[in-house]
Amino acid sequence: MFDAGTALLALSDHYDLTPSADKFEATRDRYARVAHAVPPEDWARHAPLILAIDALKVQRNAVILGHSYMPPEVYHGVSDIVGDSLQLALAARDVEAEVIVQAGVHFMAETSKVLNPGKTVLIPDASAGCSLAEAASLAEIEALRAAHPGAAVVCYVNTPAAIKAASDVCCTSANAVQVVEAMPGDTVIMTPDRHLAANVARETGKRVIPAGGACIVHERFAPEDLRAWREANPGATVIAHPECPPDVVDEADFAGSTAAMIGWLRARRPQSALLVTECSMAANIAAELPEVSLTRPCNLCPHMQKITLEKILACLHGMTGEVSVAPDLIAPARRAVERMIEIGRA
Ligand code: 13P
Ligand code: SF4
Repeated sequence: MFDAGTALLALSDHYDLTPSADKFEATRDRYARVAHAVPPEDWARHAPLILAIDALKVQRNAVILGHSYMPPEVYHGVSDIVGDSLQLALAARDVEAEVIVQAGVHFMAETSKVLNPGKTVLIPDASAGCSLAEAASLAEIEALRAAHPGAAVVCYVNTPAAIKAASDVCCTSANAVQVVEAMPGDTVIMTPDRHLAANVARETGKRVIPAGGACIVHERFAPEDLRAWREANPGATVIAHPECPPDVVDEADFAGSTAAMIGWLRARRPQSALLVTECSMAANIAAELPEVSLTRPCNLCPHMQKITLEKILACLHGMTGEVSVAPDLIAPARRAVERMIEIGRA
């Protein structure tokens, strides 16, 4: 178990981690982007870590890929490339630096390794998992393939490499409808998000056989909560992630992937919006949408929140948390992800 206090003590033998006005000043441009969400006394503690990570990134020839659900000090403080899971996967393919630090969860780090196997991929906390990735099962895929001969298996990107390798194609929430529609036949098997599968089924002409489980963050939303919020905020907009149950999506004005939600807000700039998703995302985009009043029901992903500045510094310092994928899985898993990317391009 990572003890931040002990780790900091050990790291302070190597780096100057004492808060100071100079260090705050040196990171002020980054603080400006998170000032609405991070109190200055917290940033004063983050600044020395951020500066130490800056220097180590150069030393190790590393880039940090930061998911939209990262805490603001990670997202705006140290990430070189930010985005949703599709954007980060596309970016990982093109990384030229020697080392990729995945500021996200384990399946994202595996995806980076699968797409760019020559690089050293580090995850600051290997226990940063995902309830969907845990719910994916090879036995269930096998049983469903037997029950629905000829049906393509579409796996969500939130899966271990072994599941990707056993699937015909991968998808993310940004392209799930497009990928399902591109499959031959009228039936597809979709794993491991039952809610995404149900939401996609409603938007395609296909019969979608769901498998797996649900996201512990998005399944907590309930339609009556959204209705109550609307009543209290007349005229406000509700946007939801498609990992939410279909009856929640029904209550939204727009449902889309993380990048699609951000794009929708950028384009429409409503006066106020309720973001029915993981709540770090709202904190991360608030700076560029100052005129939009964002309400975020505080559903944090416990896995994403495991990634901290201390752990990023520790993993870059010791080059620990290397993610490996069994060599025999790399090619078939990559095939599933590349097929998704090709469908997106078409
Ligand atoms: P995105 O594909 O929207 O980044 O979602 C990943 C995820 O884990 C959402 O819960
Ligand atoms: Fe997995 Fe849900 Fe966390 Fe995303 S928010 S990583 S789907 S548990």
